[in-house]
Amino acid sequence: MSTVVIKRAETDDEILSIIPLKQSDDSECIKQQVPEEVALQRVIEWREMHYDVWMAKAGLDVVGYAVGKRQDGGYRSYGIYVEPAHRNRGIGTLLKNAQIEHARKCYCEYIWSNVSENNKPSIRVQEKHGFEFERSGAGYVVTKSLKDF
Ligand SMILES: CC(C)(COP(=O)(O)OP(=O)(O)OC[C@H]1O[C@@H](n2cnc3c(N)ncnc32)[C@H](O)[C@@H]1OP(=O)(O)O)[C@@H](O)C(=O)NCCC(=O)NCCS
Repeated sequence: MSTVVIKRAETDDEILSIIPLKQSDDSECIKQQVPEEVALQRVIEWREMHYDVWMAKAGLDVVGYAVGKRQDGGYRSYGIYVEPAHRNRGIGTLLKNAQIEHARKCYCEYIWSNVSENNKPSIRVQEKHGFEFERSGAGYVVTKSLKDF
């Protein structure tokens, strides 16, 4: 398999290249096929709202993404997704790391997201980065302080 490179999606083409992954992500989440137009609409909303998007590229293929945004004094991750065939190779960890480093550079005091209690791989990725878990409904709010930089 090719080496994976994490890169900010900056051009329109790069942001739009996420659409098939967004479609897979949402379909996996609700266990039902989400139409491509719906994924397209969500990705266009990210662009219009100036969300930060990172791509994980294996050669020319985009095999994962992360999306987030500064919010108040912190940084919110709205999601990380890696194609099933590329999981458990550290790509999710690299994407999370890209968000953390970006949040630090933006002087955010903390980074956070929501994680479902059933999402063991995502819980593991947050654990590896030292996030703290606070119970919230059927999952957790996970937070990492960035004040120590
Ligand atoms: C969560 C997700 C992004 C992780 O991506 P990934 O590239 O597989 O992540 P990594 O390889 O960096 O780390 C996965 C870790 O979970 C562990 N893991 C995998 N399945 C597991 C399970 N069922 N139970 C416990 N740990 C598990 C892996 O062993 C690995 O930990 P390790 O490095 O200590 O061995 C990916 O599984 C995914 O896209 N899931 C669907 C979308 C999603 O849930 N997104 C999260 C919303 S924020």
